[in-house]
Amino acid sequence: MQKKVAIVTGAALGYKSAGKSIGGAVALELARDGYKVVVVDLGEMGQATADQIVKDGGEAVFLQLDVTKTKDVQKIVETAKSQFGGLHCLVNCVARYSPGMAKNVAEISEEEWQITLNVNLNGYFLMAKYAVPLMQKSSGGAIVNISSIESHTVLPNFGVYSVSKAAIDALTRSLAVDFAPTIRTNAVLPGFVKIANSENNRTPAELKKWYASIAKQYPMQRVCEVEEIANVVSFLVSDKASYINGQSIVVDGGKMIADLHEF
Ligand SMILES: NC(=O)c1ccc[n+]([C@@H]2O[C@H](COP(=O)([O-])OP(=O)(O)OC[C@H]3O[C@@H](n4cnc5c(N)ncnc54)[C@H](O)[C@@H]3O)[C@@H](O)[C@H]2O)c1
Repeated sequence: MQKKVAIVTGAALGYKSAGKSIGGAVALELARDGYKVVVVDLGEMGQATADQIVKDGGEAVFLQLDVTKTKDVQKIVETAKSQFGGLHCLVNCVARYSPGMAKNVAEISEEEWQITLNVNLNGYFLMAKYAVPLMQKSSGGAIVNISSIESHTVLPNFGVYSVSKAAIDALTRSLAVDFAPTIRTNAVLPGFVKIANSENNRTPAELKKWYASIAKQYPMQRVCEVEEIANVVSFLVSDKASYINGQSIVVDGGKMIADLHEF
């Protein structure tokens, strides 16, 4: 059987030292599913993801490029074609976190607002814009956009993130309507997920306390592992999800439907 090809953006295995990220876990899972993977990230730890895939017997190439730059995005898609012969799957998984964006609408600078939307939304748009024609030529496939439950809910002083995620859900529906039946597009909306980048600068004791306090807000009474998101992406891009299109799939252990205050 001919192998399929996937691009996963935001797929570095953490930051500085190999750890865990949602995109990294998705890239590893798709490689296990038999995809050749184009691993994309601004950070150098994307190489760790590609190396792990190759070590496990798969095929991968890492491109340290910026999904907000048209030339970089064109290069990413061209690489899928030139190195692996086509494209069947795109998983958009980048996001920007910075202290400057953690402000309410009155306080956030116009620059922070625009940079965040440029990464979180335009980075998904540009990848879809240039990937879709190659996916159509490659007999079609599936796109998954990693959104967040924050597309429906809002953390205090985190409005720009919610706005970007709500827009990703709308972009997902737009792609789903315009490119089906050749390409199915869905969004995955995680709740809180353990990743290396948010573990940096916290001691093990601080992390334990932090995770325990978050877990209290979740009916599952624990925080989510990156593999639990990657498994859902793997299902959504597979033929097992052949009639799922345009959906925002919440993977939050029941947080959004729960009212956990005492009665
Ligand atoms: N971790 C969570 O709790 C959580 C919850 C809900 C949704 N998400 C979403 O999951 C996705 C993955 O995030 P994560 O939690 O694994 O965090 P992460 O920081 O580990 O991953 C994001 C990656 O995107 C990369 N990136 C940022 N800008 C880029 C650009 N312009 N070009 C290329 N790469 C770029 C970063 O270098 C980083 O490696 C994001 O869309 C995030 O919003 C995360």
